[in-house]
Amino acid sequence: MDRILIRGGAPLNGSVHVAGAKNAALPLMAASLLTDQTLSLSNIPHLADITTLANLLSQHGVEIAMNGNAPNGGHAGRVLSLTAERIASTTAPYDLVRKMRASVLVLGPLLARCGEATVSLPGGCAIGSRPVDLHLKGLTQLGAEIEVDRGNILAKAAGRLVGTRIILPQVSVGATENILMAATLAEGETILENAAREPEVTDLAVCLQAMGAQIDGVGTDTLRITGVEALHGAEHPVLADRVEAGTYAIAAAITGGTLELEGARIEQLEALADVLRAAGTTFEARNGGIFVSRSNQELVGVDVMTEPFPGFPTDLQAQTMALLTTANGASMVTETIFENRFMHVPELRRMGANINLHGSSAMVRGVERLTGAPVMASDLRASASLVLAGLVADGETIVNRVYHLDRGYERLEQKLSEVGAQVERIEDRP
Ligand code: UD1
Repeated sequence: MDRILIRGGAPLNGSVHVAGAKNAALPLMAASLLTDQTLSLSNIPHLADITTLANLLSQHGVEIAMNGNAPNGGHAGRVLSLTAERIASTTAPYDLVRKMRASVLVLGPLLARCGEATVSLPGGCAIGSRPVDLHLKGLTQLGAEIEVDRGNILAKAAGRLVGTRIILPQVSVGATENILMAATLAEGETILENAAREPEVTDLAVCLQAMGAQIDGVGTDTLRITGVEALHGAEHPVLADRVEAGTYAIAAAITGGTLELEGARIEQLEALADVLRAAGTTFEARNGGIFVSRSNQELVGVDVMTEPFPGFPTDLQAQTMALLTTANGASMVTETIFENRFMHVPELRRMGANINLHGSSAMVRGVERLTGAPVMASDLRASASLVLAGLVADGETIVNRVYHLDRGYERLEQKLSEVGAQVERIEDRP
């Protein structure tokens, strides 16, 4: 398994091009199942998770083509064309679903288009049990009959799904996306209340509108969807990745450097902006992107609590904790979205961080310096936090199990090297 070697100490300076958002691209790709015409998605990031979903979709019968140039080895200029003219199979098998939980996003579209779907139940993962009960309850309210048998979700609808009023008891990005996609082809109106407002949900809604869906309230917590008989093809650019942008912003802050994040959208990162500014960082919109700098300011502790958008994103919690380990003073980091999202804490402690866990909160007391150590990545964002810690630690840090990073960060070590980090991938040759 590949590892990443980091020699800490160099402040980052320069500009980083932010890729398309993984968490927007995945539901957008699943939306291709809703129409027999071609959906063309540009600004697709070059990531392992994209390939995993492409494999699942082609198994359902979707024809997939990648066109255009790939600047800098990324896929920014590339267009992924997906045509689900004929659905060859409505079954999403365990072998593919277990690789990535987001595979469950094929459930709503397959059910709405074909009246049936069998999707392997995604298991737990390093950050908690992560049930899909809200997805299933919402689709049941739309008229589907759903049972879970021997690890499979078996869903059927007699005729078209039927619109209704659904109130999500808890904000869920994936459940909102699955219900939204299914409702676009249902008969009549669906009102989805307490819907997730994450920018990735909004990007999906905008694309569905371009495909002919009738959706009101886009960007709010109440989506009103009037079902149509069929959707058509469309072209849609995937929005910029706010988690990637946020991770590089934190990289600038932690190293006391200055970065321009090309293509990043400040309105999607206001909660991070508040935290970074309070911690002593300049964070502002500039040249259509974001400018982040902490060249002369002292890093100070600040409290952080994760919440659904527009609150502070759970996907930036681990990286922010890495930042706070060397801040002056104490910080309280509270995780309210996932039950077990502190897997990075023991690893950061191995690097000298002073962190105490109390239930869903972590008390971080700033230390003078971190020291490099071999550490183990447990999930995508935890891995990113260890890389960030390595950027300021004394000596060498080796992050093992890098495949987690490859799921969500396009060419991480290359992008970091380009702005002055001493980072290299050690490939494991058999
Ligand atoms: C998505 C993102 C993930 C991000 C998360 C929260 C993708 C591919 N992934 O994950 O990166 O961290 O949003 O912003 O977009 N829940 C239930 N029952 C359900 C569904 C969710 O109890 O049926 C709970 C979850 O366990 C969690 C909370 O609701 O505690 C939020 O999860 P959700 O918003 O659904 O996360 P995902 O869509 O899986």
